[in-house]
Amino acid sequence: MKAIEIRNKFLKYFEDHGHKVIPSAPLIPINDPSVLFTTAGMQQLVPYLLGEKHPEGNKLTDYQKCLRTNDIDEVGDNRHLTYFEMLGNWSLGAYFKEEAIKMSFEFLTKVLNIPAEKISVTCFAGNDEAPRDDEAAKYWEEAGIPKERIYFLKDNWWIAGEEGPCGPDTEMFYDTGKPKCSENCNPDCDCGKYVEIWNNVFMKYFKHKDGSLTELKQHNVDTGLGLERMTMLLQGKQTPFETELFAPIMEKLEQLQKVDNIQSRRIVAEHLRASMMIIADGGRPSNIDRGYILRRLIRRMTRHLNKLQIDLQETENLINLNIENLKEMYPELEENKETIKQVIMEEQNKFVKTLAHGEKEFMKAANKAKEEGKDFIDTETVFKLYDTYGFPPEVTEEIAKENNIQVDMEGFNKLFKEHQEKSRQGSEHKFKGGLAEQNEQTIAYHTATHLLHAALRQVLGDHVKQNGSNITTERLRFDFTHPQKMTKEEIQKVEDLVNEKIKEDLPVTCEEMSYEDAKKSGAIGLFTNKYGDRVKVYTIGDFSKEICGGPHVKHTGELGTFKIKKEESSSSGVRRIKAVLIK
Ligand code: SER
Repeated sequence: MKAIEIRNKFLKYFEDHGHKVIPSAPLIPINDPSVLFTTAGMQQLVPYLLGEKHPEGNKLTDYQKCLRTNDIDEVGDNRHLTYFEMLGNWSLGAYFKEEAIKMSFEFLTKVLNIPAEKISVTCFAGNDEAPRDDEAAKYWEEAGIPKERIYFLKDNWWIAGEEGPCGPDTEMFYDTGKPKCSENCNPDCDCGKYVEIWNNVFMKYFKHKDGSLTELKQHNVDTGLGLERMTMLLQGKQTPFETELFAPIMEKLEQLQKVDNIQSRRIVAEHLRASMMIIADGGRPSNIDRGYILRRLIRRMTRHLNKLQIDLQETENLINLNIENLKEMYPELEENKETIKQVIMEEQNKFVKTLAHGEKEFMKAANKAKEEGKDFIDTETVFKLYDTYGFPPEVTEEIAKENNIQVDMEGFNKLFKEHQEKSRQGSEHKFKGGLAEQNEQTIAYHTATHLLHAALRQVLGDHVKQNGSNITTERLRFDFTHPQKMTKEEIQKVEDLVNEKIKEDLPVTCEEMSYEDAKKSGAIGLFTNKYGDRVKVYTIGDFSKEICGGPHVKHTGELGTFKIKKEESSSSGVRRIKAVLIK
């Protein structure tokens, strides 16, 4: 069975069992700076797990695009992935353990036709705070899993981060048929006999910052089934790289390579897919946070293309191939094809200019260290590779490993912090962010921002997406995705268009509607989990329609004259406009 069929069967099964299919949240929760990427399906549902009403009801299902970054450096082995898709079903206070377990079991055995004997499960063993989950075990037995394949483990507890909704979970494992590695071998063991396939979390608690646990007002179910892993198992493959999700790109790399290296091929295939997904959802390389993760992915991939001795000119073909292969599952890849190419290739070009020099520099330092009888590279070299040659320190660490030498990451981090402190000094002057200050001027700038956003899309195209906005009483600042510098003519056109709309004195109106209706009505917005079930949509004449909390002016005529002061680069693929209103 192909991955897309598994996804469709999952959604259909839960739809047939009273669930509403909701869209995947974007990989980048633009309005939520607390997390870098979406890492689990429940993330977009937190308000509803806590009791808010979801507009689609209390039983939901979806596929969720996820990116987990803690294992980046493990990618290259036979199982780790950064990007993956998670299939999930949710009960927001509707059903609980019994129904959830029944449905999981039925889906696995009746829809995917996995023999029941192949399934083992684990339940929460209990601790001081919450009891052992005998209930879940009972339902598994009733479903058809005998006692000897039900294990109780201490770790069966799920929470995203430190604080939030959480609870005991029950995990399902596929028995690959390998013999037990020891008498005590159980699903917790890493020997490869058991592969985790699905997790049901019974979210009935909330963990507070101080570590205490209270019971939620509703009992929820949050489940997550890893699509890549399930695809691999159902196809009898040993790694996800052998499934149709990666096979075409793996084969192409094998044809192109001049040096054989399976780890490098996996790294290229995995990082390329992950980078493409991030870029399609609006991510751009930079030196901080999520931008830096993307930079690391592209640069590590580039280095491994080099190791395979594949000409970097091939990158474009590899991207085309991946889009062809994945566009049915992710139409956003096709829609953002040109941007994806531009961003990846530009980042590669930046890196490749210094890659060879940097590697030389590294070898020099490594030889010197060896001559001096040291088994580590000095911190200054690692820093220089980062600062001058753009080597993510993790890439340097990897090169070091390949050369049987170590790097002092602790020393590097210390130096890095000192360096950051220095560059921060002098740039302390910060603008107040968002709309913390609400007065006549900031409200006017807010409405002007909507006009600017709409004008940019009209003049430059629909690829323009908001990437950030900052308003003070003196000016607006608007960041948006656009691959190149705007021409003088484009800037003039945008400015004229905004002023034309101001002159027309268009009414600014606000309507409340469901989020889905807002999307359907064509309203633009940052479609993330921050929206409640009802949203406000601000419309300016027939020119602009945006999901937004407000407030705004009543008529555009109140704004005065709009003037663009500056158009500059904000980060790679993101432009920044500063503009003022003159009364
Ligand atoms: N939140 C759980 C997980 O990520 C189940 O979806 O595993």
